[in-house]
Amino acid sequence: MINTTEMRKRAVTKFTDSREWKAFHERQMEFAEDMAKYGNPYFIAHDSVLRDTSIMNGKDIINFGSYNYVCLSGDPEVNEAAIEAVKKYGTSASGSRLLAGEKTIHKELEAKIAKWKHTEDALVLVGGHSTNVTFVGNFCNENDLILYDILSHNSISQGLKISKADKKRFPHNNFSRLERLIENNRDKYEKILIVVEGVYSMDGDIAPIDEFVRIKKKYGCFLMVDEAHSACVIGENGGGVDEYFNLAPDDIDIKMGTLSKGLGTCGGYLAGSKELIEYLRYNLPGFVFSVGLSPVLTAAVIKGIELLERDNTRVQKLHKNIEIFMREAHKHGFDTCLAGETAITPIMIGDDELAFRLSMVMQEDGIFVPPALYPAVPRGKARLRYCLNSDHTEEQIVYAMEVLKRRLTR
Ligand SMILES: Cc1ncc(COP(=O)(O)O)c(C=O)c1O
Repeated sequence: MINTTEMRKRAVTKFTDSREWKAFHERQMEFAEDMAKYGNPYFIAHDSVLRDTSIMNGKDIINFGSYNYVCLSGDPEVNEAAIEAVKKYGTSASGSRLLAGEKTIHKELEAKIAKWKHTEDALVLVGGHSTNVTFVGNFCNENDLILYDILSHNSISQGLKISKADKKRFPHNNFSRLERLIENNRDKYEKILIVVEGVYSMDGDIAPIDEFVRIKKKYGCFLMVDEAHSACVIGENGGGVDEYFNLAPDDIDIKMGTLSKGLGTCGGYLAGSKELIEYLRYNLPGFVFSVGLSPVLTAAVIKGIELLERDNTRVQKLHKNIEIFMREAHKHGFDTCLAGETAITPIMIGDDELAFRLSMVMQEDGIFVPPALYPAVPRGKARLRYCLNSDHTEEQIVYAMEVLKRRLTR
């Protein structure tokens, strides 16, 4: 028999009585003492472009915290393109592109991204996170299966939550387990979508995309690669996973990327076959029911890709900086997680509080590096998440590693 008193819920009428607030507040309390002593490591304001340096609290600081990997944000030519666009179009697309928000430069940008990513067409959306949510959330139906890496970014997990498809995860980068999962499930589903990232954002490792391509071809699956941290970074010209693994243009079905990282603005893109993009243009909720990308950002990304195509000096400089960072970090005996060839070069600290404290005290040494703490990483695996860009100098990197060594041995 159903006990009706058990079913009755206690009414929550004040937000501070909610489970959500209580859990958040408890977590805040864990760091209250350190925050009182060292300050808050979150929402630190920067009053300049984030390149090798930035201005924090009115002072120059060496910046290891941002995703401006090839320094397109703040580039004079990119700025100029954005200024010209603002003069011509204003600051907003002022409507969904389907109805009133379409601009000639949207078409131009999508053609540029398609050419850059070797696909037939592309679509740009207003957010990288929302691009994943809406695509992963809507590409599959109840007859389908989505297979995803256990370390998938939150934007992918949020999409999984709304998708009607069945979902199964596989251990990080473990393509053998993925293959077994497909073997056991191929005949139960219509579409199978495999979702992985080109470079993982907490460890800085490159996924074995060539293996995922082999598997997706063997079993007739769809492969989506999130290139948030691989586009503009890996490959001789920053072409991303296609270039790095020397893939054929259609080896990956859905090439997803953000405009906010290497490309220096804000937004997301999906690149793929003519038919897929045509379908998404009329059907993808996060595109159809959202405003078009701001013309300012659209023009800035067009110029950014143009600069990347002009020559690869920025990408090569970034690669050199990654090499220098690895050399210096290993010289001091630091654990660089799974990093080595990407702009995300974390150093494992272990304890949450120590990582937090180091991040704060190194600001006194003129260095900004954010901590990555639980729940962003597993407990006991806190790290300082250094991010490199093409403007960093050897001196800045050498100094940063010396400072960390000194702070750790004090
Ligand atoms: C792998 C990955 N995908 C998607 C996103 C979301 O991109 P955006 O910050 O442009 O919304 C991020 C952001 O950090 C990311 O790391």
